[in-house]
Amino acid sequence: MAGRIRDTDLSYLRERLRIDEVIGDYVQLKNAGGGQRKGLCPFHDEKSPSFHVTPSKGYFHCFGCQVGGDVIAFLMKIEHLTFTETVERLADRIGYQLSYEDSGKSAPAGQRSRLISANAAAAKFYQEQLNSHQADQAREFLSQRGFDRVAAESFGVGFAPDEWDHLFKKLIGEGFSEQELLLVGLVKEGQRGVIDRFRNRLIWPIRDVGGDVVGFGARKLASDEQDQGPKYLNTPETPLYKKSQILYGLDRAKKEIAKARQAVIVEGYTDVMAAHLAGITTAVATCGTAFGDDHIRILRRLLMDDDAFRGEVIFTFDGDAAGQKAALKAFESDQKFVAQTFVAIENRGMDPCELRQKEGDAALRDLIAKRVPLFEFAIKSTLANYDLNRAEGRVLALNETIPLIAKIRDASLRPEYARLLAGWIGVEMEQIKSALSQIEKNPRSRAALSKNVDSESGEGLEEPKRNWRPDPQEPKLMLEREVLKARVQFPALCRDWRNLEEEAFTHPAYIRLRAFIDQQPDFESITLSEADPAELQSFIAELSVEPIRTDGEISDRYIASIFARLRELAIGRNIAEIKSKLQRVNPVENEAEYGAIFSDLLKLEKQRRTLRDLAVGEI
Ligand code: CTP
Ligand code: MN
Repeated sequence: MAGRIRDTDLSYLRERLRIDEVIGDYVQLKNAGGGQRKGLCPFHDEKSPSFHVTPSKGYFHCFGCQVGGDVIAFLMKIEHLTFTETVERLADRIGYQLSYEDSGKSAPAGQRSRLISANAAAAKFYQEQLNSHQADQAREFLSQRGFDRVAAESFGVGFAPDEWDHLFKKLIGEGFSEQELLLVGLVKEGQRGVIDRFRNRLIWPIRDVGGDVVGFGARKLASDEQDQGPKYLNTPETPLYKKSQILYGLDRAKKEIAKARQAVIVEGYTDVMAAHLAGITTAVATCGTAFGDDHIRILRRLLMDDDAFRGEVIFTFDGDAAGQKAALKAFESDQKFVAQTFVAIENRGMDPCELRQKEGDAALRDLIAKRVPLFEFAIKSTLANYDLNRAEGRVLALNETIPLIAKIRDASLRPEYARLLAGWIGVEMEQIKSALSQIEKNPRSRAALSKNVDSESGEGLEEPKRNWRPDPQEPKLMLEREVLKARVQFPALCRDWRNLEEEAFTHPAYIRLRAFIDQQPDFESITLSEADPAELQSFIAELSVEPIRTDGEISDRYIASIFARLRELAIGRNIAEIKSKLQRVNPVENEAEYGAIFSDLLKLEKQRRTLRDLAVGEI
């Protein structure tokens, strides 16, 4: 047992350590005036910051939960350490050698420091082993996944040799006790004595937010026949390693997360590496466990703004059933952060590591930039189960998704999603609204809603069929409609048709009609057959007789101008996307990429100006 730490050492530490720096590892602090700083209290749940730190005096105080004290008290409490362990850790931080009162000779340090040292020694051992002959397969694995030597070194990747107790002997030789090594999970009791936990595996050291190695993730290298163990093996729960509170990569991502107000959650160690190397420096992963409440709390503190949580948490899902299920669960959760939760889905099911390997860094950055809100993802995944080209499909889809919108806690978001849903399904807004208000008034009516579908009467089916058509009077869609009318009625004047941007049409019915027109063999005439869906036939009939809205004559020039206006809008949407992408690229670190995006932006801006001139008839 260690002796008492000298009081002079304690006061030296209190003086030398900057409390705001230590706390800053856990809490995002903002200036609060009067030399004070404040942030979200890490000791209780709060939405606005009442946790104050006074660096000049070296103490903190939370006005919400009344916790307070000096830098030692803070670290003890947040890391659940003993007093001695805390002081030793703080001394380590500034490279200070403590002395103990009872004995003249240096006493064994506190448990935590010992365990951290054991892990550091193990990490070093594994890393050295990666260069050994035995590690051929491990190095091959890394290079197959697109990681060169520098990348592996930067993440401290290592190799556990295929031997029973190589690490054990080595660390015993370095003065660690068997008990310490068992406690920290590096070794375990085998049938004939103590053996290394990780054998013939690729090793990732897992660090806590302060950068100390608290555990390891280990991937099997041998085939399943040779090694029946799981593909990934992690350090078990130990005094250092609590998997529900660990995010791999957080030590290097925490500053970026706070700065960019964004955290990207990926699935594995290789994905974190791939993301960071591709410039997504806000990426972290859980270690062999689901993303839970503790993980949320940890990120939330880093993402907090003045008075509220303003960041984005982006999950990468491979668009499969598990991801969809996880997304749907969000509706049942307390939804505290759901509005700021996004998902980035790789449609072909590639994880970030694979995507980077196959298509490069830019593809991975693009995947993240194209994130969609979790609510949107969840609703659309539900819609994907239905055939929206059929009236029955639309009714079923509606009945399934309206209750989801009703479950959005933040009532101010519901109208927006209702509007979006109308567009996604292709029904009138009125219909969504009334179904929604029915549920909002009486949650039980959800049952009534689905009854409509079950009944064979077909009554519930009439409505959407009629409403598949977009509202002809809808101002937002007017231009899309005019262009389509022109295309149907005066194809010869629609020379710009093929130049229309992919995003030119926004209503599903109009998008569908455009695709239908594009399939026609003859540009100048649209041929309908019995086999074409009835609603499409009547829709085309409707557009071919509806008068084009113009005061003047329907000239070449007039039609060119409405095409130009539609394209201008589409380009405007493109510009908005590029601008948001630009915000996510660091102009200093990724000069070339930034330049490329910027020049795209300029090109689009120029194109938009030309189209605008064309639209108002100046060319
Ligand atoms: N994982 C785990 N236990 C397993 C499988 C996976 O704990 N039996 C965790 C690991 O943390 C791993 C993550 O889930 O990093 C992602 O798993 P997976 O996608 O299977 O791993 P990849 O790295 O994509 O696969 P590979 O190693 O083959 O590249
Ligand atoms: Mn994976």
